Amino acid sequence: MHVIQVNNDGKSPYDLFVAEAPRPETPAGHVLIRVSHAGVNRPDILQRIGAYPPPVGASPILGLEVSGTIESLNLSDEEARLLGWTLGDKVCALTNGGGYAEFVSVDARHLLPIPKGLTMAEAATLPEVSLTVYANMIEGGGLKAGETVLIHGGNSGIGSMAIQMAKGFGAKVITTVRGADKCARVAAFGADLVIDAGAGDFVEAVKAYGGADVVIDIVGGDYTDRNLICLKPKGRMVQVGVGAGAKVALDLFRVMQKQLTLTGSTLRPRSADEKARLSHAVRDQVWPLIDAGQIKTVVEKAFSLDKAGEAHAWLEAGQHVGKVVLKIGG
Ligand SMILES: NC(=O)c1ccc[n+]([C@@H]2O[C@H](COP(=O)([O-])OP(=O)(O)OC[C@H]3O[C@@H](n4cnc5c(N)ncnc54)[C@H](OP(=O)(O)O)[C@@H]3O)[C@@H](O)[C@H]2O)c1
Repeated sequence: MHVIQVNNDGKSPYDLFVAEAPRPETPAGHVLIRVSHAGVNRPDILQRIGAYPPPVGASPILGLEVSGTIESLNLSDEEARLLGWTLGDKVCALTNGGGYAEFVSVDARHLLPIPKGLTMAEAATLPEVSLTVYANMIEGGGLKAGETVLIHGGNSGIGSMAIQMAKGFGAKVITTVRGADKCARVAAFGADLVIDAGAGDFVEAVKAYGGADVVIDIVGGDYTDRNLICLKPKGRMVQVGVGAGAKVALDLFRVMQKQLTLTGSTLRPRSADEKARLSHAVRDQVWPLIDAGQIKTVVEKAFSLDKAGEAHAWLEAGQHVGKVVLKIGG
């Protein structure tokens, strides 16, 4: 099968190239998916440049989410009955790596149905961001209906899902985006307030809105202490990424004075059981919002597999709103 591999040190997006590799094994409890599309995520870029190595036991091939068709199953009769999947089903799934390939082996408990009316390209953009956002914003941040969440990077894959999921769960949403053009496009995701963080500090605008109960931050760096200013008493800051740096200066008095909670998590190193639990929760609570059209996917651009380098370059350029996918099979 065709897969994407990394040449040289991976520092350039054009270090990605198409190679031949055997189809992956399908261990017990797994299914083999013939990949239609693979989502392209920022962690793929970090893995390519060597800053986010795959966990032990994970596929070294890039790609954390796919859509496709079940090619074969290695399930007991009981597992097949409980999970309900069968040969030829169209699915999307979180992968343990290996998505940039014609076939990928996936834990059958991590499969999700294609939401109503979505294309295979759209469905491929969902598993990684929906599980990450659900785990961090709804579980880690404990966001409740009626509360306000501040979401940085509203144009990102994570941000675009977080805005819509928060609205779907009945929260008020403030988001920051860099650049007036992107602000206008991100407004369509339904945020109550969109702030152009490229044009000035976001703190006064957030305070004028009344502050935030939860912050979903993918930036870190000099956003971190300002996030603490934006939080209301007993607010929760959830770190999901560190685009501007992980080592930060904080005024810890703010944490004590306002009884703040600082937390965060990564999805990838979680156990297969934990990802199965999250997949189930997302199918139960988020998929109905997607089926109903309350959460929309935004495929900014699709690239063929041999253009994986261009897909990475496009994402790195930071002009996108929503998600980028690779078109691999039919
Ligand atoms: N915790 C997890 O399990 C998990 C899972 C998936 C992703 N992530 C992380 O979440 C982040 C978003 O991932 P994605 O795939 O959605 O990426 P993406 O679509 O490429 O978006 C990256 C976002 O980060 C913003 N950004 C980067 N550096 C910034 C800076 N210095 N100041 C302000 N904004 C900055 C970008 O803003 P511009 O467009 O203005 O450049 C953009 O909104 C990444 O950091 C990724 O590693 C974490």
